[in-house]
Amino acid sequence: MCGIVGVIGKSEASPVIFEALKRLEYRGYDSAGIATVENGQIDRRRVEGKLNNLGDALTTSPLPGKIGIGHTRWATHGAPTEQNAHPHVSSHVAVVHNGIIENFRDLRNELEAGGHTFASETDTEVVAHLVTAYLQEGKSHFEAARLAVARLEGAFALGIIFQGEEDLIVGARHGPPLAIGEGDGEMYLGSDAFALAPMTNRVCYLEDGDCAEIRHDAVTIIDADGNQVERPFTIMMASAQLVDKGNHRHFMAKEIHEQPEVLGHTISAYADPLQETIYLGRVPFDLAAVPKITISACGTAFYAAMVAKYWFEQLARVSVEIDIASEFRYREAAMPEGGLAIFVSQSGETADTLAALRYCAQNGQHVASIVNVVESTIGRESEVVFPIHAGPEIGVASTKAFTCQLMVLAALAIATARARKTIDDETETRLVRALTSVPRLTTETLGVAGQIEALAHDLASTRDILYFGRGLQYPIALEGALKLKEISYIHAEGYAGGELKHGPIALIDEQVPVIVIAPYDRLFDKTMSNMQEVIARGGRVVFMSDDKGLDHVGNDAWAKIRVPEADPFISPFLYTIPVQLLAYYTAVAKGTDADQPRNLAKSVTVE
Ligand code: F6R
Repeated sequence: MCGIVGVIGKSEASPVIFEALKRLEYRGYDSAGIATVENGQIDRRRVEGKLNNLGDALTTSPLPGKIGIGHTRWATHGAPTEQNAHPHVSSHVAVVHNGIIENFRDLRNELEAGGHTFASETDTEVVAHLVTAYLQEGKSHFEAARLAVARLEGAFALGIIFQGEEDLIVGARHGPPLAIGEGDGEMYLGSDAFALAPMTNRVCYLEDGDCAEIRHDAVTIIDADGNQVERPFTIMMASAQLVDKGNHRHFMAKEIHEQPEVLGHTISAYADPLQETIYLGRVPFDLAAVPKITISACGTAFYAAMVAKYWFEQLARVSVEIDIASEFRYREAAMPEGGLAIFVSQSGETADTLAALRYCAQNGQHVASIVNVVESTIGRESEVVFPIHAGPEIGVASTKAFTCQLMVLAALAIATARARKTIDDETETRLVRALTSVPRLTTETLGVAGQIEALAHDLASTRDILYFGRGLQYPIALEGALKLKEISYIHAEGYAGGELKHGPIALIDEQVPVIVIAPYDRLFDKTMSNMQEVIARGGRVVFMSDDKGLDHVGNDAWAKIRVPEADPFISPFLYTIPVQLLAYYTAVAKGTDADQPRNLAKSVTVE
């Protein structure tokens, strides 16, 4: 998660950019840089380390020019050196970037074969060279940028300036957010409205697939289909700028849509993109020697643990026990000396999870935690902390923290499997590649939002809803049901598909919608049989699957939700998105408060 700023101003741009970068420093601070155009020439200052270093560099060697872009970096591809700091340049352009460009290796090979010389190890630099290549073919600045962006795969936000052009910044969004601010004869670009707050309160947000041609007095936006579109500028209140919902009605919606970006951040923290291996940092015990793993958590975090149990057992062949923290601490579980106890918690303050942690620490277990708030009590009392890097989660119902918890658990399962030699290098590469594709595929999955919003109107008046799935989708069925009941107050239950016939099927009649989560994997046929049992009893099925699965279901389902086809390992990430959206839009349709549902609190610090 890096921070991007762009300015076309009436006065010197670099001091304004520098101030805005300070507000984005929470996104990353291992290097920083600014580029401007003055007398047609691009110039830049870049430094390793925090923004203060950039301030010093600008004092020693000021950067003139009324147009510029700036960046504060959280390293993904390439070490946090000056050489890898943004903006990256080629002969004609300078680029700042937030996110991951998945196909950078192929593009780099192609560009090097065409005579381009690279100066960094980053994925970003390919953008500068690609735009230059299109300019050399005679394309206009905006056209060259759009053609280059169309070749990129991954999740990214970009700011681009051009040699010889002092009234143009191109902004592009595919996943991570990007805001445009309008001033008095000036325009700004930023990773969030908060960064632009001192300069303007008139802000619009780019949508996924948008490319913006930003001039000092006008903005032209072209959407993913190549159509010119209007994105409304709205006035932000001062308080809204501090904790900003972007262009969303609720924090929950913002946090659902933020997942591609934060998941990119999480995978970057745990995977080496060049070696395609998992990197955990220092772990103060031997993962290969751990006799047993115990994972404790509450609510949504517990469902992340449930997914992880499948991953650890399948990949690392280690016995994993999972438990709801409030039960675990009182059942006097037997744990072998030297076992690993993992605690999953967004807040890091959940009283039950903390009590379970203390119990394990007293009973000879190594204690690891997976938290969002690293300074929390659970974080502080752990031997090793694996941060999820989700950023602040304001909506009471957990969304982005869940998928980021999954990402860390997946990385940990792979690292454990590697340590225990239960997977080979080739398998690790495949799994890391699959995890790296999650930001892109979640962006694609979010495309079902409109369809789910329409469906939610029909569901809002129902009394009960059932969810089911098998294997990795069973915990997602449970999570979908929890999300729906906590924010829409509709009674919902999640089941393992095979369990329906042992009781819950008695609930099915024409009034009960049933959400079936069924990627086309080795359990697909079994899930289909369970679905037929439901349909035979009049149940209305909402069928979530990929293209192959949807082909098989024909017209049997009442509604069909398409999820991209993917490696089965990452299916829980993708199927989480539609169940989150379904809960959210049902709550909106019912008029309940999605961000602050009744009776709940974000952090449960009592037993
Ligand atoms: C559900 C939800 C809760 C939390 C649970 C644990 O949407 O948010 O079920 O997951 O209270 O909270 P943390 O993760 O802070 O320990």
